[in-house]
Amino acid sequence: MKILKYIWLKFFNTYGIISNNGSDTVNLPNILEAKKRTNKEIEIKTNEYIINNNLKHLGDNYCYYIKTYGCQMNVHDSENIKAILEDMGFTETDVLEEADLILLNTCSIRENAHNKVFGFLGRIKHLKETKPHIITGLCGCMAQEESVVKEIMERYKWMDLVFGTHNIHRLPNILERAMATRELEIEVFSKEGDIFENIPVKRDSKYKAWVNIMYGCDKFCTYCIVPYTRGKQRSRKPEFILDEVNDLISQGYQEVTLLGQNVNAYGKDLPGNYRMGDLLRDVAETGIRRIRFMTSHPWDFDDEMIDIISKYDNIMPYVHLPLQSGSNRILKLMGRRYTKESYLNLVQKLKKKIPSLALTTDIIVGFPGETDKDFEDTLEVVKKCQYDSAFTFIFSPRVGTPAARMKDDISLEEKNKRLYKLNELVNKYANKNNQKYLDKIVPVLIEGKGEKGNLMGYTDTMKLVNIDGDDSNIGFIVPVKITSIKTWSLDGKIIF
Ligand code: SAH
Ligand code: SF4
Ligand code: F3S
Repeated sequence: MKILKYIWLKFFNTYGIISNNGSDTVNLPNILEAKKRTNKEIEIKTNEYIINNNLKHLGDNYCYYIKTYGCQMNVHDSENIKAILEDMGFTETDVLEEADLILLNTCSIRENAHNKVFGFLGRIKHLKETKPHIITGLCGCMAQEESVVKEIMERYKWMDLVFGTHNIHRLPNILERAMATRELEIEVFSKEGDIFENIPVKRDSKYKAWVNIMYGCDKFCTYCIVPYTRGKQRSRKPEFILDEVNDLISQGYQEVTLLGQNVNAYGKDLPGNYRMGDLLRDVAETGIRRIRFMTSHPWDFDDEMIDIISKYDNIMPYVHLPLQSGSNRILKLMGRRYTKESYLNLVQKLKKKIPSLALTTDIIVGFPGETDKDFEDTLEVVKKCQYDSAFTFIFSPRVGTPAARMKDDISLEEKNKRLYKLNELVNKYANKNNQKYLDKIVPVLIEGKGEKGNLMGYTDTMKLVNIDGDDSNIGFIVPVKITSIKTWSLDGKIIF
């Protein structure tokens, strides 16, 4: 039957809904469809996730293992997937070999993210040879890519299910079909996307929570695949967000992170003038102890937002503000819609209004056509901003994006050299910024145990702290004296 589906696909050489023999359907992604943006109103669906009684025990006595790649959106999607699976009777395991169902929630952002997933699939294949009953699936952003789904159909036919980022609420039905037919079930919608308000969640932490405030992205930076894999920008209505935050408070949560690819544009797609500043104010007024938000796009960072962040003590003085490049020429080619000057101006305003601000960023080196001079411009901005830390990447061409078609004549060796030089500079400022904390007493939310068995948590400014102290502090925000400094973390002890 797997072969039959594949033949149908080849025969029609097209995507969309393809029926294999009238009994079920295969929906495949299409990058051209995924690119579409229309004025069609977003539908808010509050009853779409349904689990029939006959599916509630499908997973009884079975364990699932889920591996998550990529950003916090994916981490949060995995929290939804876990809750759905547990609604179906499955139990979570963190031991791969014990699992009856293995899901990979994947990321498409750079080629190495892809490679890691295909490497892991090799491991699962071995496992499946000894335990053929294992059900294996792939979801997340890679599932939205035409080329990936094709590759799975050709080279990974032994897999059981593939479902896209718009199909999570349909997981019970997709899984039921996969378990019944032992066929490769593929369901990936290439669409702008709706908002689903009734998907359950099993949160990884009891103290800090991810809260989606928007989905998708309409910025279409020329290097980036996210607008294709996640659909159109869709802001959640404020009342749903505030209800979720209030519910988290009543459960004892101390911290929320408001999530979106471009949170500063929150509300622009909703009727009226309610924007990110308004949302931050209203979330702050709920009284939750700590509020974070990510990711900010420099283009939409308005003065009202800065005022609100500086006014409320429970909005953390931490901003992740991706720079990508310090060269105006490259920023234009990237379609980022700001200049080095306007970026620096924004940083200056932020630092002035929020004195304890910690600032982090993302930078891409080796974008097609980046010259030594362009790269020097990036280094200059890093020197001026003195970031607390930065995620730095070598440009990775993504199929279907405009930058993948640009002429790229910089050698990998040169790109690596630039990355090394950039990282040296970033590390220097990371270390310098951390020095300021020595002997200071700072509030830390104790999240649990670190790798070495000590306590760990984060400061208001998002610095990781490894702490000596008693387990009874877990889940509380406590004063910690910083006793020593490393480039990427601090050490401290609890002071009462
Ligand atoms: N929405 C965020 C970024 C999300 S992706 C923003 O607009 O800033 C996270 C980071 O991955 C980006 O900031 C960028 O630095 C990096 N990235 C995205 N696409 C990339 C590509 N094709 N090659 C290398 N790095 C990339
Ligand atoms: Fe990608 Fe740009 Fe959207 Fe960020 S703003 S997700 S980099 S397209
Ligand atoms: Fe990766 Fe998709 Fe996030 S591409 S970075 S998991 S939105």
